[in-house]
Amino acid sequence: MTAVLFHSQNDSPADWEAGLSKFIPDLDFRVWPDIGDPLEIEFALIWALPPGSLKQMRNLRCICSLGQGVDHIFNDPDIPTNAKIMRLVDPWMAQAMSEWVLLNVLRFHRQGIEYEAFERERKWHVLPPPETSECKVGVLGLGELGSDAAKKISSLGFNVAGWSRNPKDIENVKSFFGGDQLERFLNRTDILCCLLPLTPETRGILNNQTLYQLIRGAYIINAGRGAHIVDEALLEAIGSGQIAGAALDVFHEEPLPERHPYWDHPKVRVWPHVSAQSNAGSAASQVADAINKVFNGKDPNNLINRINQY
Ligand code: NDP
Ligand code: OXD
Repeated sequence: MTAVLFHSQNDSPADWEAGLSKFIPDLDFRVWPDIGDPLEIEFALIWALPPGSLKQMRNLRCICSLGQGVDHIFNDPDIPTNAKIMRLVDPWMAQAMSEWVLLNVLRFHRQGIEYEAFERERKWHVLPPPETSECKVGVLGLGELGSDAAKKISSLGFNVAGWSRNPKDIENVKSFFGGDQLERFLNRTDILCCLLPLTPETRGILNNQTLYQLIRGAYIINAGRGAHIVDEALLEAIGSGQIAGAALDVFHEEPLPERHPYWDHPKVRVWPHVSAQSNAGSAASQVADAINKVFNGKDPNNLINRINQY
C-alpha cells in the first residue's frame, strides 16, 4: 500500500491532487492531518509540516519540499534517516523570481526611493541620471534562481557578480566563491540580492560586519530567507546611511508581526513571501515523476545533500 502525504498552509491540496492525478490517476493522496495509517505513507509532499510529525511514518521513502527551499524540512530534528529529501526545481519559479529581482534592482537603480519621497512632498526635483554599466549588482547564491537572475540583470547592462560555494562560469557574471572571497565580493557591490538557501552556514550572513563591507549607500534585496539577515543590524545600517534601502520578501517570522519596524520604514519595502510561489500547474509533472520513481525503487531528481542542507 503506497500513499502520498500532502501538507501546506499556502498551497491548495485540491490543485495538487488534480495536477498529480493527471499523471497518476489512482493516486492515494492524503491531506494532513487525515493521513490514515502512517505506515502506508511512502512519499511526503510538504511545506512546513509541524516538526515531529514525520517520525511516525516509518516507511517513508522520500520527502519532497513544496518549494525550492528545504530549510523547513531540516527544522524537524526527527526526519526519518532513511528517507531521501528532494525539492522542486521549476523554471516557472525561476522566471517569477527574476522578475521580482529585476523590479527591485531597477527601482533602486532608477532612484525610486528618492523620487517617491519627492513625489510625496510634491517636489519637482531632478537628480543626475544613473549610469547602468557602473552599477555593480551582486547576487548571493548562483543556483537555479540566482544564476537566472544574474543573467537577466546582466542582459540589461549592469555590472554583475555572484557569490557561491563553488566557482561558476556564467557569461558576463564575475564569479566569487567560498568564505575567503565574500568580503571582496561585498566590497564591489552597490545592489545586493540574496538568493541563498538557509543553512547553518548562511544563517545571519548579512550582519553588522558584512553589511558594512558593501559600498556605502548600497541596497539590499532579500528573497532567500528572513534569517539570512540580522534585522537589528539592517535597521541600524539603514539609519546610519550605510544601506540606502531594502526590498524584503522573507522574514524571521511570517506573517511579519504587525508591530515590526519594517512595516512603516520609508526605506524598506515589505512583500508577503510571493516573489516565486509554488505552482501545481507547472510543477505537478515533476512531482508525479518523482513519485513514480520512488514507488519503483528509483532515486528521484533534485535530491538534497543532507550534509550541506541544500
Ligand atoms: P540552489 O540550491 O539551486 O542554489 C543555492 C546557491 O547557494 C548555490 O549557488 C550554492 O553554491 C550557494 N550556496 C549555498 N550555501 C553556500 C555557502 N555556504 N557559501 C556560498 N554559497 C552557498 O537554490 P535555489 O536557487 O533553487 O533557491 C535558493 C533559495 O531561494 C531557496 O533555498 C529558498 O530559500 C529561496 N526561495 C525563495 C522563494 C521566495 O518566494 N521568496 C522561492 C523559492 C526559493 P554552489 O552552487 O556552489 O553549491
Ligand atoms: C520556496 C519558497 O522555497 O517559496 O520555494 O520560499
